Amino acid sequence: MNTLHFGDNLQVLRDHISDESVDLIYLDPPFNSNATYNLLFEESTGQTSGAQIEAFRDTWEWGESAADAYEDVMRAAGDAALVMKGLKSWLGQNAMMAYLAMMTARLLHLKRVLKPTGSLYLHCDPKASHYLKVILDAVFGHEGFRNEIVWARSRNPKGSQHGNRRYSPNTDSILYYAKDSGTHLDLDSIRRSLTDTEMAEKYNRSDELGSFMDGPILRSASMGPRPNLVYEYKGFTPGPAGWRVNETELKAIDRRGDLAWSKSGAPRRKWRPSEDRGMPVGSLWEDIPPINSQARERLGYPTQKPLTLLERIIKASSKEGDVVLDPFCGCGTTVEAAESLKRQWIGIDVTHYAVTLIEARMEATHPSAEYKIEGRPVDLAGARDLARRDKHQFQWWAAWRVGAQSYREEKRGADRGIDGNIFFKNGPYGDGRIIISVKGGEKVGVEMVRDLRGVIEREEAEMGVLVTLANPTKPMKKEALDAGTVRRSAHGRMPRLQIVTAADLLEGRLPALPPLPVPERHPIRAPRRRHRDQLELLLPFPGEKVAPDKAVVVDPRFVSVA
Ligand SMILES: C[S@@+](CC[C@H](N)C(=O)[O-])C[C@H]1O[C@@H](n2cnc3c(N)ncnc32)[C@H](O)[C@@H]1O
Repeated sequence: MNTLHFGDNLQVLRDHISDESVDLIYLDPPFNSNATYNLLFEESTGQTSGAQIEAFRDTWEWGESAADAYEDVMRAAGDAALVMKGLKSWLGQNAMMAYLAMMTARLLHLKRVLKPTGSLYLHCDPKASHYLKVILDAVFGHEGFRNEIVWARSRNPKGSQHGNRRYSPNTDSILYYAKDSGTHLDLDSIRRSLTDTEMAEKYNRSDELGSFMDGPILRSASMGPRPNLVYEYKGFTPGPAGWRVNETELKAIDRRGDLAWSKSGAPRRKWRPSEDRGMPVGSLWEDIPPINSQARERLGYPTQKPLTLLERIIKASSKEGDVVLDPFCGCGTTVEAAESLKRQWIGIDVTHYAVTLIEARMEATHPSAEYKIEGRPVDLAGARDLARRDKHQFQWWAAWRVGAQSYREEKRGADRGIDGNIFFKNGPYGDGRIIISVKGGEKVGVEMVRDLRGVIEREEAEMGVLVTLANPTKPMKKEALDAGTVRRSAHGRMPRLQIVTAADLLEGRLPALPPLPVPERHPIRAPRRRHRDQLELLLPFPGEKVAPDKAVVVDPRFVSVA
Protein backbone atom coordinates (compact mmCIF):
# COMPACT_ATOMS: atom_id res chain seq x y z
CA MET A 1 0.00 0.00 0.00
CA ASN A 2 1.33 3.46 -0.87
CA THR A 3 2.41 5.11 2.36
CA LEU A 4 3.32 8.57 3.51
CA HIS A 5 5.32 8.45 6.72
CA PHE A 6 5.56 11.43 9.05
CA GLY A 7 8.78 10.97 10.99
CA ASP A 8 12.54 10.76 10.93
CA ASN A 9 13.50 8.53 8.04
CA LEU A 10 16.13 6.67 10.08
CA GLN A 11 13.46 5.55 12.50
CA VAL A 12 10.96 4.79 9.74
CA LEU A 13 13.50 2.78 7.77
CA ARG A 14 14.47 0.82 10.87
CA ASP A 15 10.94 0.10 12.01
CA HIS A 16 8.82 -0.06 8.88
CA ILE A 17 10.72 -0.88 5.71
CA SER A 18 11.76 -4.47 5.26
CA ASP A 19 14.90 -5.80 3.65
CA GLU A 20 15.04 -5.92 -0.15
CA SER A 21 11.55 -4.51 -0.62
CA VAL A 22 12.21 -1.40 -2.74
CA ASP A 23 13.08 -1.12 -6.45
CA LEU A 24 14.15 2.51 -6.67
CA ILE A 25 15.27 5.11 -4.16
CA TYR A 26 15.55 8.81 -4.93
CA LEU A 27 16.78 11.01 -2.13
CA ASP A 28 17.21 14.74 -2.02
CA PRO A 29 18.41 15.42 1.50
CA PRO A 30 18.51 18.98 2.78
CA PHE A 31 21.85 20.59 2.68
CA ASN A 32 23.17 23.80 4.03
CA SER A 33 22.75 25.49 0.72
CA ASN A 34 23.27 28.98 2.04
CA ALA A 35 26.37 28.23 4.05
CA THR A 36 29.67 29.01 2.49
CA TYR A 37 31.91 26.06 1.82
CA ASN A 38 34.47 27.06 4.44
CA LEU A 39 31.85 27.60 7.09
CA LEU A 40 30.86 23.96 6.80
CA PHE A 41 34.25 22.95 8.12
CA GLU A 42 34.38 25.17 11.16
CA GLU A 43 34.45 23.27 14.42
CA SER A 44 31.18 23.43 16.25
CA THR A 45 30.01 21.76 19.40
CA GLY A 46 26.36 22.09 18.47
CA GLN A 47 23.34 21.94 20.64
CA THR A 48 21.11 19.01 21.42
CA SER A 49 18.82 20.23 18.73
CA GLY A 50 16.29 17.89 17.22
CA ALA A 51 17.74 16.93 13.85
CA GLN A 52 14.32 17.46 12.37
CA ILE A 53 13.84 21.16 12.71
CA GLU A 54 17.48 21.68 11.92
CA ALA A 55 17.05 19.59 8.83
CA PHE A 56 14.06 21.49 7.63
CA ARG A 57 15.98 24.66 8.17
CA ASP A 58 18.65 23.09 6.06
CA THR A 59 21.51 23.27 8.49
CA TRP A 60 23.57 20.62 10.15
CA GLU A 61 25.53 20.88 13.33
CA TRP A 62 27.70 18.43 15.14
CA GLY A 63 25.57 17.50 18.14
CA GLU A 64 24.00 14.52 19.85
CA SER A 65 22.13 13.28 16.76
CA ALA A 66 25.24 13.44 14.61
CA ALA A 67 27.30 11.66 17.27
CA ASP A 68 24.61 8.95 17.54
CA ALA A 69 24.53 8.51 13.78
CA TYR A 70 28.32 8.24 13.75
CA GLU A 71 28.20 5.57 16.46
CA ASP A 72 25.56 3.67 14.45
CA VAL A 73 27.89 3.60 11.46
CA MET A 74 30.80 2.43 13.62
CA ARG A 75 28.65 -0.38 15.04
CA ALA A 76 27.66 -1.48 11.54
CA ALA A 77 31.40 -1.77 10.78
CA GLY A 78 32.43 -2.52 7.21
CA ASP A 79 33.87 -0.14 4.62
CA ALA A 80 31.49 2.71 5.47
CA ALA A 81 32.81 2.73 9.04
CA LEU A 82 36.40 2.81 7.78
CA VAL A 83 35.65 5.74 5.50
CA MET A 84 33.79 7.65 8.21
CA LYS A 85 36.56 7.10 10.72
CA GLY A 86 39.07 8.49 8.26
CA LEU A 87 36.88 11.44 7.40
CA LYS A 88 36.25 12.27 11.03
CA SER A 89 39.91 12.21 11.93
CA TRP A 90 40.53 14.65 9.12
CA LEU A 91 37.42 16.85 9.16
CA GLY A 92 36.82 16.91 12.91
CA GLN A 93 33.41 17.75 14.34
CA ASN A 94 31.77 20.25 12.08
CA ALA A 95 28.66 20.78 10.00
CA MET A 96 30.02 18.79 7.07
CA MET A 97 30.90 15.84 9.28
CA ALA A 98 27.48 15.99 10.95
CA TYR A 99 25.84 15.88 7.55
CA LEU A 100 27.99 12.97 6.41
CA ALA A 101 27.39 10.99 9.59
CA MET A 102 23.61 11.45 9.30
CA MET A 103 23.71 10.53 5.64
CA THR A 104 25.86 7.43 6.09
CA ALA A 105 23.62 6.00 8.80
CA ARG A 106 20.68 6.40 6.43
CA LEU A 107 22.49 5.14 3.33
CA LEU A 108 23.32 1.88 5.08
CA HIS A 109 19.63 1.34 5.72
CA LEU A 110 18.69 2.40 2.22
CA LYS A 111 20.99 -0.22 0.80
CA ARG A 112 19.43 -2.80 3.10
CA VAL A 113 15.88 -2.07 1.88
CA LEU A 114 16.84 -2.04 -1.81
CA LYS A 115 16.10 -5.16 -3.84
CA PRO A 116 19.17 -6.78 -5.43
CA THR A 117 18.02 -5.34 -8.76
CA GLY A 118 17.33 -1.90 -7.29
CA SER A 119 19.00 1.44 -7.82
CA LEU A 120 19.57 4.59 -5.82
CA TYR A 121 19.84 8.20 -6.95
CA LEU A 122 21.28 10.64 -4.44
CA HIS A 123 20.66 14.28 -5.31
CA CYS A 124 23.22 16.63 -3.79
CA ASP A 125 25.21 19.71 -4.58
CA PRO A 126 28.91 20.02 -5.36
CA LYS A 127 29.74 21.12 -1.81
CA ALA A 128 29.35 17.55 -0.59
CA SER A 129 29.08 15.35 -3.68
CA HIS A 130 32.71 14.25 -3.55
CA TYR A 131 32.42 13.02 0.05
CA LEU A 132 29.09 11.34 -0.64
CA LYS A 133 30.55 9.53 -3.62
CA VAL A 134 33.29 8.05 -1.47
CA ILE A 135 30.69 7.04 1.12
CA LEU A 136 28.43 5.52 -1.53
CA ASP A 137 31.38 3.60 -2.95
CA ALA A 138 31.93 2.20 0.53
CA VAL A 139 28.26 1.35 1.01
CA PHE A 140 27.57 -0.11 -2.45
CA GLY A 141 31.09 -1.20 -3.42
CA HIS A 142 33.01 0.52 -6.24
CA GLU A 143 31.21 -1.63 -8.76
CA GLY A 144 27.88 -0.13 -7.70
CA PHE A 145 28.74 3.27 -9.16
CA ARG A 146 26.96 3.97 -12.46
CA ASN A 147 26.98 7.72 -13.11
CA GLU A 148 27.39 11.13 -11.68
CA ILE A 149 24.55 12.93 -13.41
CA VAL A 150 24.99 16.67 -13.63
CA TRP A 151 21.73 18.57 -13.66
CA ALA A 152 21.89 22.19 -14.79
CA ARG A 153 19.42 23.49 -12.25
CA SER A 154 19.70 27.09 -13.33
CA ARG A 155 20.10 28.53 -16.76
CA ASN A 156 21.07 31.92 -15.47
CA PRO A 157 24.38 31.69 -13.66
CA LYS A 158 24.90 34.69 -11.42
CA GLY A 159 27.42 37.30 -12.40
CA SER A 160 29.44 38.95 -9.70
CA GLN A 161 27.90 37.61 -6.50
CA HIS A 162 31.10 35.79 -5.53
CA GLY A 163 33.36 38.71 -6.18
CA ASN A 164 34.67 36.90 -9.27
CA ARG A 165 36.45 34.34 -7.12
CA ARG A 166 34.69 31.38 -8.66
CA TYR A 167 32.17 30.41 -11.31
CA SER A 168 28.55 30.67 -10.32
CA PRO A 169 27.44 27.23 -9.14
CA ASN A 170 24.41 26.34 -11.24
CA THR A 171 24.53 22.54 -11.27
CA ASP A 172 23.51 19.74 -8.92
CA SER A 173 24.95 16.25 -8.84
CA ILE A 174 22.82 13.14 -8.85
CA LEU A 175 24.85 10.11 -7.87
CA TYR A 176 23.44 6.97 -9.42
CA TYR A 177 24.32 3.60 -7.85
CA ALA A 178 23.05 0.12 -8.59
CA LYS A 179 23.01 -2.75 -6.17
CA ASP A 180 24.07 -5.33 -8.71
CA SER A 181 24.90 -5.80 -12.36
CA GLY A 182 21.38 -6.97 -13.24
CA THR A 183 19.81 -3.64 -12.30
CA HIS A 184 16.99 -2.51 -14.54
CA LEU A 185 17.71 0.57 -16.69
CA ASP A 186 15.44 1.43 -19.61
CA LEU A 187 17.18 4.22 -21.49
CA ASP A 188 14.83 3.97 -24.46
CA SER A 189 11.94 5.08 -22.30
CA ILE A 190 13.62 8.41 -21.59
CA ARG A 191 14.95 9.36 -24.99
CA ARG A 192 14.58 13.08 -25.48
CA SER A 193 12.41 14.31 -28.34
CA LEU A 194 14.13 16.87 -30.52
CA THR A 195 12.91 20.43 -30.65
CA ASP A 196 11.51 21.75 -33.94
CA THR A 197 14.76 23.58 -34.61
CA GLU A 198 16.83 20.47 -33.90
CA MET A 199 14.57 18.43 -36.20
CA ALA A 200 14.91 20.99 -38.99
CA GLU A 201 18.69 20.95 -38.60
CA LYS A 202 18.86 17.15 -38.51
CA TYR A 203 16.44 16.41 -41.39
CA ASN A 204 17.81 19.11 -43.65
CA ARG A 205 17.40 17.47 -47.07
CA SER A 206 14.27 16.77 -49.01
CA ASP A 207 12.87 14.75 -51.91
CA GLU A 208 9.40 14.15 -53.33
CA LEU A 209 8.42 12.26 -50.12
CA GLY A 210 9.46 15.09 -47.80
CA SER A 211 12.46 15.88 -45.63
CA PHE A 212 15.11 13.33 -44.69
CA MET A 213 18.55 12.91 -43.21
CA ASP A 214 21.24 11.17 -45.20
CA GLY A 215 22.88 8.21 -43.46
CA PRO A 216 24.91 5.05 -44.19
CA ILE A 217 23.28 1.75 -45.14
CA LEU A 218 26.61 -0.08 -45.27
CA ARG A 219 28.55 -1.15 -42.22
CA SER A 220 31.97 0.46 -41.96
CA ALA A 221 35.06 -1.71 -42.21
CA SER A 222 35.89 -0.95 -38.59
CA MET A 223 32.69 -2.73 -37.52
CA GLY A 224 34.25 -6.02 -38.64
CA PRO A 225 33.24 -8.62 -41.21
CA ARG A 226 29.65 -9.96 -41.23
CA PRO A 227 29.41 -12.65 -43.96
CA ASN A 228 25.64 -13.10 -43.46
CA LEU A 229 25.08 -9.41 -44.34
CA VAL A 230 27.09 -9.59 -47.53
CA TYR A 231 24.66 -10.10 -50.44
CA GLU A 232 24.03 -8.54 -53.82
CA TYR A 233 21.21 -6.04 -54.25
CA LYS A 234 20.42 -4.24 -57.52
CA GLY A 235 23.86 -5.08 -58.84
CA PHE A 236 25.72 -3.81 -55.73
CA THR A 237 27.63 -6.13 -53.39
CA PRO A 238 29.27 -4.53 -50.32
CA GLY A 239 32.66 -5.43 -48.84
CA PRO A 240 33.17 -7.99 -46.00
CA ALA A 241 31.49 -5.74 -43.40
CA GLY A 242 28.20 -6.02 -45.33
CA TRP A 243 24.92 -4.12 -45.32
CA ARG A 244 23.47 -2.73 -42.09
CA VAL A 245 20.23 -4.74 -42.52
CA ASN A 246 19.22 -8.08 -43.91
CA GLU A 247 17.87 -8.40 -47.45
CA THR A 248 14.17 -8.41 -46.48
CA GLU A 249 14.58 -5.19 -44.50
CA LEU A 250 16.61 -3.61 -47.28
CA LYS A 251 13.87 -4.35 -49.81
CA ALA A 252 11.27 -2.80 -47.50
CA ILE A 253 13.43 0.31 -47.11
CA ASP A 254 13.76 0.56 -50.88
CA ARG A 255 10.01 0.08 -51.41
CA ARG A 256 9.30 2.98 -49.02
CA GLY A 257 11.60 5.20 -51.09
CA ASP A 258 14.25 5.42 -48.41
CA LEU A 259 17.16 3.91 -50.31
CA ALA A 260 19.28 6.38 -52.28
CA TRP A 261 22.21 5.92 -54.67
CA SER A 262 25.06 8.43 -54.74
CA LYS A 263 26.53 9.69 -58.00
CA SER A 264 29.36 7.21 -57.57
CA GLY A 265 26.80 4.38 -57.29
CA ALA A 266 27.12 3.78 -53.52
CA PRO A 267 23.88 3.06 -51.61
CA ARG A 268 22.73 5.43 -48.82
CA ARG A 269 19.88 5.40 -46.32
CA LYS A 270 17.29 8.19 -46.09
CA TRP A 271 16.06 8.67 -42.53
CA ARG A 272 12.64 10.35 -42.19
CA PRO A 273 11.52 12.56 -39.28
CA SER A 274 8.76 10.03 -38.45
CA GLU A 275 11.46 7.45 -37.64
CA ASP A 276 13.21 9.70 -35.16
CA ARG A 277 13.57 7.99 -31.77
CA GLY A 278 14.82 11.07 -29.99
CA MET A 279 18.20 11.64 -28.46
CA PRO A 280 19.61 9.18 -25.94
CA VAL A 281 20.04 10.83 -22.56
CA GLY A 282 23.61 11.11 -21.30
CA SER A 283 24.86 12.10 -17.88
CA LEU A 284 24.58 15.85 -18.51
CA TRP A 285 20.98 16.94 -18.01
CA GLU A 286 20.53 20.40 -19.40
CA ASP A 287 17.06 19.98 -20.78
CA ILE A 288 15.10 19.98 -17.52
CA PRO A 289 14.44 23.54 -16.43
CA PRO A 290 14.08 24.41 -12.76
CA ILE A 291 10.64 25.27 -11.47
CA ASN A 292 10.10 28.91 -12.26
CA SER A 293 7.91 31.29 -10.33
CA GLN A 294 5.06 30.87 -12.80
CA ALA A 295 5.18 27.07 -13.15
CA ARG A 296 1.84 25.36 -12.63
CA GLU A 297 3.41 22.67 -10.47
CA ARG A 298 5.01 25.23 -8.15
CA LEU A 299 3.91 24.78 -4.54
CA GLY A 300 6.24 27.32 -3.04
CA TYR A 301 8.18 24.59 -1.23
CA PRO A 302 11.71 25.99 -1.14
CA THR A 303 13.55 22.95 -2.48
CA GLN A 304 10.86 21.55 -4.75
CA LYS A 305 12.29 19.64 -7.71
CA PRO A 306 10.67 19.55 -11.16
CA LEU A 307 8.33 16.67 -11.91
CA THR A 308 10.10 16.00 -15.21
CA LEU A 309 13.32 15.26 -13.34
CA LEU A 310 11.65 12.63 -11.21
CA GLU A 311 9.69 11.23 -14.14
CA ARG A 312 12.93 10.66 -16.02
CA ILE A 313 14.54 8.81 -13.12
CA ILE A 314 11.46 6.74 -12.35
CA LYS A 315 10.84 5.77 -15.99
CA ALA A 316 14.47 4.75 -16.52
CA SER A 317 14.98 2.83 -13.30
CA SER A 318 11.65 1.19 -12.54
CA LYS A 319 8.74 -0.57 -14.14
CA GLU A 320 5.01 -0.23 -13.59
CA GLY A 321 4.06 -1.66 -10.20
CA ASP A 322 7.59 -1.31 -8.79
CA VAL A 323 8.14 0.29 -5.39
CA VAL A 324 9.71 3.75 -5.35
CA LEU A 325 10.96 5.22 -2.06
CA ASP A 326 11.79 8.84 -1.30
CA PRO A 327 13.05 9.14 2.29
CA PHE A 328 13.27 12.98 2.16
CA CYS A 329 10.13 13.53 0.15
CA GLY A 330 9.51 17.24 0.85
CA CYS A 331 6.42 18.42 -0.98
CA GLY A 332 6.08 15.07 -2.73
CA THR A 333 7.49 15.45 -6.23
CA THR A 334 8.57 11.79 -6.27
CA VAL A 335 5.22 10.74 -4.87
CA GLU A 336 3.28 12.54 -7.58
CA ALA A 337 5.55 11.29 -10.37
CA ALA A 338 5.38 7.70 -9.07
CA GLU A 339 1.60 7.84 -8.83
CA SER A 340 1.30 9.21 -12.40
CA LEU A 341 3.60 6.49 -13.70
CA LYS A 342 1.68 3.72 -11.92
CA ARG A 343 4.45 2.83 -9.50
CA GLN A 344 3.87 2.03 -5.86
CA TRP A 345 5.44 4.57 -3.55
CA ILE A 346 6.66 5.30 -0.05
CA GLY A 347 7.38 8.87 1.02
CA ILE A 348 8.94 9.93 4.31
CA ASP A 349 9.25 13.42 5.70
CA VAL A 350 9.99 14.67 9.15
CA THR A 351 7.86 17.81 8.97
CA HIS A 352 4.14 17.84 9.39
CA TYR A 353 3.98 20.70 6.95
CA ALA A 354 5.42 18.52 4.16
CA VAL A 355 2.92 15.76 4.91
CA THR A 356 -0.07 18.12 4.77
CA LEU A 357 1.27 19.66 1.60
CA ILE A 358 1.56 16.26 -0.07
CA GLU A 359 -1.99 15.38 0.97
CA ALA A 360 -3.25 18.53 -0.70
CA ARG A 361 -1.06 17.94 -3.74
CA MET A 362 -2.46 14.45 -4.20
CA GLU A 363 -5.99 15.71 -3.64
CA ALA A 364 -5.45 18.22 -6.44
CA THR A 365 -3.58 16.02 -8.90
CA HIS A 366 -4.67 12.44 -8.13
CA PRO A 367 -7.86 12.64 -6.10
CA SER A 368 -8.47 8.91 -6.37
CA ALA A 369 -4.97 7.87 -5.29
CA GLU A 370 -4.99 5.36 -2.48
CA TYR A 371 -2.48 5.70 0.29
CA LYS A 372 -2.18 5.74 4.05
CA ILE A 373 -0.44 8.14 6.38
CA GLU A 374 1.68 6.69 9.16
CA GLY A 375 3.28 8.44 12.10
CA ARG A 376 0.63 11.02 12.93
CA PRO A 377 -0.40 10.68 16.53
CA VAL A 378 -3.66 8.77 16.85
CA ASP A 379 -3.69 8.56 20.64
CA LEU A 380 -2.33 10.42 23.60
CA ALA A 381 0.75 8.22 23.85
CA GLY A 382 1.57 9.10 20.23
CA ALA A 383 1.03 12.81 20.87
CA ARG A 384 3.23 12.65 23.96
CA ASP A 385 5.91 10.81 22.04
CA LEU A 386 5.86 13.42 19.28
CA ALA A 387 6.08 16.27 21.83
CA ARG A 388 9.06 14.59 23.45
CA ARG A 389 10.83 13.95 20.15
CA ASP A 390 10.18 17.24 18.46
CA LYS A 391 8.54 20.21 20.09
CA HIS A 392 8.02 22.09 16.83
CA GLN A 393 6.41 19.20 15.02
CA PHE A 394 4.07 18.65 17.98
CA GLN A 395 3.10 22.32 17.81
CA TRP A 396 2.48 22.12 14.08
CA TRP A 397 0.51 18.91 14.37
CA ALA A 398 -1.66 20.31 17.20
CA ALA A 399 -2.26 23.59 15.37
CA TRP A 400 -3.30 21.61 12.29
CA ARG A 401 -5.70 19.49 14.36
CA VAL A 402 -7.36 22.66 15.60
CA GLY A 403 -7.75 23.85 12.01
CA ALA A 404 -4.81 26.18 11.51
CA GLN A 405 -4.40 27.59 8.05
CA SER A 406 -0.79 28.51 8.64
CA TYR A 407 2.01 27.37 10.85
CA ARG A 408 4.31 29.87 12.37
CA GLU A 409 7.82 28.76 13.02
CA GLU A 410 10.00 30.95 15.17
CA LYS A 411 13.41 29.55 15.55
CA ARG A 412 15.36 32.17 17.36
CA GLY A 413 14.62 35.32 19.28
CA ALA A 414 11.69 35.98 21.53
CA ASP A 415 8.90 33.44 21.38
CA ARG A 416 5.96 35.46 20.22
CA GLY A 417 3.58 32.75 21.33
CA ILE A 418 1.96 32.08 17.98
CA ASP A 419 2.11 28.55 16.59
CA GLY A 420 -0.68 28.83 14.07
CA ASN A 421 -3.36 31.11 12.71
CA ILE A 422 -6.91 30.70 11.59
CA PHE A 423 -8.51 33.46 9.58
CA PHE A 424 -12.25 33.89 9.15
CA LYS A 425 -14.79 36.31 7.78
CA ASN A 426 -16.16 38.40 10.58
CA GLY A 427 -19.07 40.03 8.75
CA PRO A 428 -19.03 43.83 8.95
CA TYR A 429 -15.85 43.71 11.07
CA GLY A 430 -13.72 42.41 8.21
CA ASP A 431 -11.23 39.57 8.54
CA GLY A 432 -11.01 37.90 11.91
CA ARG A 433 -8.03 36.05 13.32
CA ILE A 434 -7.67 33.23 15.82
CA ILE A 435 -4.25 32.67 17.31
CA ILE A 436 -3.21 29.15 18.26
CA SER A 437 -0.61 28.60 20.91
CA VAL A 438 0.58 25.09 21.71
CA LYS A 439 2.31 23.86 24.85
CA GLY A 440 3.83 20.40 24.54
CA GLY A 441 5.31 20.17 28.05
CA GLU A 442 4.05 17.97 30.87
CA LYS A 443 3.72 21.02 33.12
CA VAL A 444 1.23 23.78 32.48
CA GLY A 445 0.44 26.92 34.42
CA VAL A 446 -1.83 29.92 34.48
CA GLU A 447 0.91 32.14 33.06
CA MET A 448 0.46 30.37 29.72
CA VAL A 449 -3.13 31.53 29.51
CA ARG A 450 -2.12 35.04 30.60
CA ASP A 451 0.56 35.10 27.93
CA LEU A 452 -1.92 34.11 25.26
CA ARG A 453 -4.33 36.80 26.46
CA GLY A 454 -1.48 39.24 26.04
CA VAL A 455 -0.70 37.97 22.55
CA ILE A 456 -4.36 38.27 21.49
CA GLU A 457 -4.36 41.88 22.70
CA ARG A 458 -1.03 42.72 21.14
CA GLU A 459 -1.94 41.23 17.77
CA GLU A 460 -5.48 42.65 17.92
CA ALA A 461 -6.80 39.18 17.17
CA GLU A 462 -10.38 38.17 17.87
CA MET A 463 -9.75 34.87 19.59
CA GLY A 464 -7.11 32.50 20.89
CA VAL A 465 -6.88 28.76 21.43
CA LEU A 466 -4.37 27.28 23.83
CA VAL A 467 -3.58 23.62 23.14
CA THR A 468 -1.91 21.73 25.96
CA LEU A 469 -0.59 18.24 26.31
CA ALA A 470 -1.19 18.21 30.05
CA ASN A 471 -4.60 18.87 31.59
CA PRO A 472 -5.21 22.54 32.38
CA THR A 473 -5.34 23.56 36.01
CA LYS A 474 -8.32 25.27 37.64
CA PRO A 475 -6.63 28.69 37.64
CA MET A 476 -5.97 28.25 33.91
CA LYS A 477 -9.62 27.50 33.21
CA LYS A 478 -10.66 30.50 35.28
CA GLU A 479 -8.22 32.78 33.48
CA ALA A 480 -9.65 31.57 30.14
CA LEU A 481 -13.19 32.28 31.29
CA ASP A 482 -12.14 35.71 32.52
CA ALA A 483 -10.98 36.56 29.01
CA GLY A 484 -14.69 36.84 28.18
CA THR A 485 -16.17 36.81 24.72
CA VAL A 486 -15.16 38.17 21.35
CA ARG A 487 -15.80 41.92 21.41
CA ARG A 488 -16.94 42.34 17.86
CA SER A 489 -18.38 39.09 16.53
CA ALA A 490 -20.55 38.47 13.51
CA HIS A 491 -21.08 34.92 14.75
CA GLY A 492 -22.83 35.40 18.05
CA ARG A 493 -21.23 34.87 21.41
CA MET A 494 -17.78 33.40 20.88
CA PRO A 495 -15.22 32.70 23.64
CA ARG A 496 -12.19 34.93 23.40
CA LEU A 497 -9.86 32.30 24.78
CA GLN A 498 -10.32 28.54 24.90
CA ILE A 499 -8.16 25.73 26.16
CA VAL A 500 -8.15 22.31 24.55
CA THR A 501 -5.95 19.36 25.34
CA ALA A 502 -4.27 17.06 22.87
CA ALA A 503 -6.60 14.34 24.19
CA ASP A 504 -9.62 16.53 23.32
CA LEU A 505 -8.35 16.98 19.80
CA LEU A 506 -7.69 13.27 19.39
CA GLU A 507 -11.20 12.48 20.52
CA GLY A 508 -12.73 15.01 18.11
CA ARG A 509 -13.60 17.63 20.74
CA LEU A 510 -12.78 20.88 19.03
CA PRO A 511 -12.91 24.45 20.24
CA ALA A 512 -15.85 26.59 19.14
CA LEU A 513 -14.80 28.35 15.98
CA PRO A 514 -16.63 30.64 13.58
CA PRO A 515 -17.35 29.23 10.09
CA LEU A 516 -14.13 28.95 8.16
CA PRO A 517 -13.63 29.77 4.49
CA VAL A 518 -14.01 26.86 2.09
CA PRO A 519 -10.53 25.54 1.29
CA GLU A 520 -9.10 26.22 -2.10
CA ARG A 521 -8.86 23.11 -4.19
CA HIS A 522 -5.52 23.88 -5.68
CA PRO A 523 -2.76 23.95 -3.10
CA ILE A 524 -0.45 26.42 -4.76
CA ARG A 525 0.67 28.96 -2.22
CA ALA A 526 4.13 30.06 -1.37
CA PRO A 527 5.47 30.18 2.18
CA ARG A 528 5.78 33.71 3.46
CA ARG A 529 8.66 35.06 5.39
CA ARG A 530 7.62 37.71 7.84
CA HIS A 531 10.96 38.68 9.25
CA ARG A 532 14.40 37.18 9.29
CA ASP A 533 13.83 34.39 11.75
CA GLN A 534 10.23 33.67 11.16
CA LEU A 535 8.82 31.41 8.57
CA GLU A 536 5.14 31.38 7.94
CA LEU A 537 4.03 28.25 6.18
CA LEU A 538 0.63 28.45 4.65
CA LEU A 539 -1.29 25.25 4.80
CA PRO A 540 -2.94 24.31 1.56
CA PHE A 541 -6.20 23.68 3.39
CA PRO A 542 -7.42 24.71 6.78
CA GLY A 543 -6.42 22.07 9.23
CA GLU A 544 -7.74 18.61 9.62
CA LYS A 545 -11.06 17.83 8.08
CA VAL A 546 -13.30 16.65 10.90
CA ALA A 547 -16.79 15.52 10.09
CA PRO A 548 -19.13 18.13 11.64
CA ASP A 549 -21.03 15.48 13.59
CA LYS A 550 -17.76 14.31 15.14
CA ALA A 551 -16.78 17.77 16.27
CA VAL A 552 -17.87 18.39 19.81
CA VAL A 553 -17.35 21.81 21.30
CA VAL A 554 -15.06 21.70 24.30
CA ASP A 555 -16.44 24.75 26.00
CA PRO A 556 -20.03 23.88 26.93
CA ARG A 557 -21.02 27.56 27.00
CA PHE A 558 -20.95 27.75 23.23
CA VAL A 559 -22.58 25.81 20.48
CA SER A 560 -20.54 24.61 17.56
CA VAL A 561 -20.73 26.80 14.52
CA ALA A 562 -18.41 24.63 12.45
C1 LIG B 1 15.48 19.10 -0.10
S1 LIG B 1 13.95 18.70 0.59
C2 LIG B 1 13.26 17.57 -0.53
C3 LIG B 1 12.49 18.23 -1.63
C4 LIG B 1 11.80 17.25 -2.53
N1 LIG B 1 12.74 16.57 -3.39
C5 LIG B 1 10.72 17.94 -3.35
O1 LIG B 1 10.81 17.98 -4.58
O2 LIG B 1 9.82 18.47 -2.74
C6 LIG B 1 14.42 17.74 1.94
C7 LIG B 1 13.29 17.28 2.81
O3 LIG B 1 13.80 16.34 3.74
C8 LIG B 1 13.08 16.46 4.94
N2 LIG B 1 13.91 15.86 6.00
C9 LIG B 1 14.98 16.36 6.60
N3 LIG B 1 15.48 15.51 7.50
C10 LIG B 1 14.70 14.43 7.48
C11 LIG B 1 14.70 13.21 8.19
N4 LIG B 1 15.62 12.97 9.10
N5 LIG B 1 13.73 12.32 7.92
C12 LIG B 1 12.79 12.59 6.97
N6 LIG B 1 12.74 13.73 6.27
C13 LIG B 1 13.68 14.64 6.51
C14 LIG B 1 12.85 17.95 5.09
O4 LIG B 1 11.74 18.21 5.92
C15 LIG B 1 12.60 18.37 3.64
O5 LIG B 1 11.25 18.36 3.34
